Amino acid sequence: MSLKIQTLSGYFHEYQKSVLNPEAFWERIADTFHWKKRWDKVVEWNFEEPKIEWFVNGKLNITENMLDRYLYTAGDRTAIIWEPNDPSEEVRKITYRELFDMVNQFSNTLRANGVGKGDRVIIYMPMVPEAAVAMIACARIGAIHSVVFAGFSSNALADRINDCKAKMVITSDGNFRGAKTIEVKKVVDEALEKTETIEKMIVLKRTGTEVTMQNGRDIWWHDAIKGHEGEAQAESMDAEDMLFILYTSGSTGKPKGVVHTTGGYMVYTYFSFLNVFQYKTGDVFWCSADIGWITGHSYIIYGPLLAGASIVMFEGVPTYPNPGRFWEVVDKHQVNEFYTAPTAIRALQAFGQEPLEPFKLDSLRVLGTVGEPINEEAWHWYHDHVGKGKCPIVDTWWQTETGGILVSPIAGITPTKPSYATLPLPGIQPVIVDNEGRELRGNSVEGNLCIKYPWPGMLRTTYGDHERCKQTYFSSFNGYYFTGDGVKRDEDGYYRILGRVDDVINVSGHRMGTAEVENAINEHPRVIESAVVGYPHNIKGQGIYAFVIADLDDRTVQNLTNEIKVTVNNIIGPIARPDKVQIVPGLPKTRSGKIMRRILRKIASGDTDNFGDTSTLLDPDVVDKIMEGAREIDQ
Ligand code: PRX
Repeated sequence: MSLKIQTLSGYFHEYQKSVLNPEAFWERIADTFHWKKRWDKVVEWNFEEPKIEWFVNGKLNITENMLDRYLYTAGDRTAIIWEPNDPSEEVRKITYRELFDMVNQFSNTLRANGVGKGDRVIIYMPMVPEAAVAMIACARIGAIHSVVFAGFSSNALADRINDCKAKMVITSDGNFRGAKTIEVKKVVDEALEKTETIEKMIVLKRTGTEVTMQNGRDIWWHDAIKGHEGEAQAESMDAEDMLFILYTSGSTGKPKGVVHTTGGYMVYTYFSFLNVFQYKTGDVFWCSADIGWITGHSYIIYGPLLAGASIVMFEGVPTYPNPGRFWEVVDKHQVNEFYTAPTAIRALQAFGQEPLEPFKLDSLRVLGTVGEPINEEAWHWYHDHVGKGKCPIVDTWWQTETGGILVSPIAGITPTKPSYATLPLPGIQPVIVDNEGRELRGNSVEGNLCIKYPWPGMLRTTYGDHERCKQTYFSSFNGYYFTGDGVKRDEDGYYRILGRVDDVINVSGHRMGTAEVENAINEHPRVIESAVVGYPHNIKGQGIYAFVIADLDDRTVQNLTNEIKVTVNNIIGPIARPDKVQIVPGLPKTRSGKIMRRILRKIASGDTDNFGDTSTLLDPDVVDKIMEGAREIDQ
């Protein structure tokens, strides 16, 4: 039987089977892969510890299922179509055979540089094929990659290196991003001043930016790979051996290293990719995310390459050299499935239809979105003007922790509704609970989104701190994995994600912990205390609003707010830079000292009515003063 759902009744049928007998359901999919040794048991789990194991005692190498598998049957098929930042630079097309050779050569290179099974390798690179090669080569030799988005600051990079005690960094001299050239190696050099575990750095020449190479530590990629051609034996990995660590923000100050393992992640990314996008062999699939995020891991690299897909990898940004760039790339490479973020859609929508006009866009069959709720207006614009009314939109809900898409339409099969992620994929058992943890059954209910049964792609732990994993995801509601999202199930049983219910904000589809931003702000010597909230932002979905108590000293408000923005920029990176900073005389606190963020969120969003009961505040007058200041900021 095909693994691909073909009809709506087929979906319901598979869904039912997956709930009645999850083991048989997943086993059938896992059986389509090459295992060095078959598993003894499909799943063992409890959500109390939590302990989650899939394909227990199975042995495999995920890269054999991505590359070796296609070598003889489809070696000449294009694996990666690389579209450079500058459209006048040459496109690179890499076949499965070429990718196999590049990965093997780089695997040998890693081994020759002392990297082996279980070692952690940081990848801090631009969107170039070598970044994919680096990830896959790590997987081939059993090293654990941790990709860090190359927009993070040296501090953020150093924190991640230290947390996972990485042995190697793979980076580039610089990155091209739109009209800018970013000196990346310099950021890594700065980070390494705050770390002690890195033995080697491999540096890809990309921009020709001048760099200093430290003798004995830094090696150019092109020198490092010399003489390392030839097949690299694929390490035999346990299904539960770590594949990668990916850091993500949470409601506490420090980002956590979400751990994904080999066997389950392979099965889940493949299955979800094939079904959600209804990928057909020969199609060209383009996911515009960066490999620094989970979307890039699961739907640029692992899912598609496991399915033998041809993918577009895009180095640039949607608006460079003009706001027609996405559409130009779609036509140029005849993209069939296009997957992007609502924030990109809204940014392009702001330029109107004109940038779309020169392009046919007739290769497109499926459109996807991910990362944040998509507003109806953006949904319709995407549907009508990009998809010309003929492409189904898959609004895919998932998280770094879930490894792959959990709630989404099956393209062309599940009837869609704007702004609804619709229905769970087979194997996913969502539940909605109230704040006391009681399951809300039936339709037309709203509450906290939890999942009650494991799926192969879910996180296993948070690196080096299992207790944190337990506290964050498995302790809020007994017996469930808690997503941190609010959700509504409507009268048709369709799911609509309402946004985070914790102190996490979603800026342009990127998760940001308010505490993390506050910690960065508080590093400024004049800052006494700060509170950060999200507010509705036309393009970004949510913007960052910081209320700050500070000692101005000899600075003007303007100077200080700018300095605060720069501080956050330096400590975390440009993505965390507050959009608005308001210097306030105090914060609305309860008598026990808790900041009433609800009030701040209302002020930040311009909603000045109905603050509810403020009599319990230590200083109720402070609310009026903050409101007054907020009006000035908006002017
Ligand atoms: O709040 C949800 C939102 O993004 C969060 C996960 O962020 P991250 O781990 O960075 O992963 C993003 C890419 C998978 C979720 O908790 N989110 C993600 N997809 C959607 C969404 N909110 C609404 N609709 C979506 N389709």
